Amino acid sequence: MKVEQILQKSRENMNDLCKSCPVCNGRACRNTIPGPGAKGSGTVAIRNYDAWKNIHLVMDTICENTPVSTQTNLFGHTFRLPVFAGPVGAVSMHYGDAYVDQTYNKVLIKACKDAGIMAFTGDGMDDQIMIGATQNIKENDGIGVPTIKPWAKEMVVEKLKLAKEAGALAIAMDIDAAGLPFLKGFVPPAGRKNVKELKEIVQEINVPFIVKGILSVKGALKAKEAGASCIVVSNHGGRVLDDTPATADVLEEIVQAVGKDMTILVDGGIRNGQDIFKALALGADGVLIARPFVNMIYGAQEEGVKALVDQLEQELIDTMEMCGASTIQEITRDMVR
Ligand SMILES: Cc1cc2nc3c(=O)[nH]c(=O)nc-3n(C[C@H](O)[C@H](O)[C@H](O)COP(=O)(O)O)c2cc1C
Repeated sequence: MKVEQILQKSRENMNDLCKSCPVCNGRACRNTIPGPGAKGSGTVAIRNYDAWKNIHLVMDTICENTPVSTQTNLFGHTFRLPVFAGPVGAVSMHYGDAYVDQTYNKVLIKACKDAGIMAFTGDGMDDQIMIGATQNIKENDGIGVPTIKPWAKEMVVEKLKLAKEAGALAIAMDIDAAGLPFLKGFVPPAGRKNVKELKEIVQEINVPFIVKGILSVKGALKAKEAGASCIVVSNHGGRVLDDTPATADVLEEIVQAVGKDMTILVDGGIRNGQDIFKALALGADGVLIARPFVNMIYGAQEEGVKALVDQLEQELIDTMEMCGASTIQEITRDMVR
């Protein structure tokens, strides 16, 4: 099945909150939460998408016609392309009860591994979500990234233990989840964390620590000071604060400030191979794509994930061919404007 057909199926299997649009650009769901939309005015998800469209590709086909490879080494592992499925939690509430987080993550983790990429998994109030996700990651040779919410210390320690036992390649925390309404009233209090608290997490683990939800140079430098190996430039798809800038608009300044010592990933409205190429040209090492993977799984389980990854790979190869790059390392800043 092609991605368009899978989207059609996805529409049939979802509640009406997600319309499984041909292009997931934040417009039809706008400010629907519950649902896959963005917070407040709902404009941030739209801005994320539009910002990639405002970056243009610089074509150059006068070069060696060598075969194009999208292979990338990240977190000590070789991936088919520098794309990860982003974490999505509370799927039954936001997309309909064809899946709960446990069944969604089980399909996602394996399907991503089989397709040559890797999934990040979300976290929630129910302990079983992280227990299930880490079990699935273990069954898939550690190819998965559990993303822990910024809970109180004791709870973080418990979840880190699960992630470590699973042999996960890396462990993430969505530090911007401080903006989620359900975290605000949580007892014991969850939310923002300081550099010292993040350092303690880094000391607890012996795999890369990824801080997801960085949107400023200041934030990136604090994550670096804490010893994080990787940041995800992200505004949580507009779900944690209204009126933030698009991730594409802050990526380059963050890359320049942080330098080459950290792995830099980015998400928010990245929908095709051209967008992936643009992110890499601006200095990212890889990207996360979140909402479209949900549509693929609701539409066609593993087959949906494979179809999307195949399509993204083909689009990225096309773009590289047309802009003069044969390897991911050869993608440079002058290839976009
Ligand atoms: C319904 C929904 C649930 C999400 N749950 C999580 C989560 O549990 N943890 C997390 O780090 N990010 C979560 N996100 C944010 C995504 O991982 C991602 O950062 C965001 O959607 C932007 O990427 P996209 O535009 O490709 O969807 C969620 C997003 C959506 C739409």
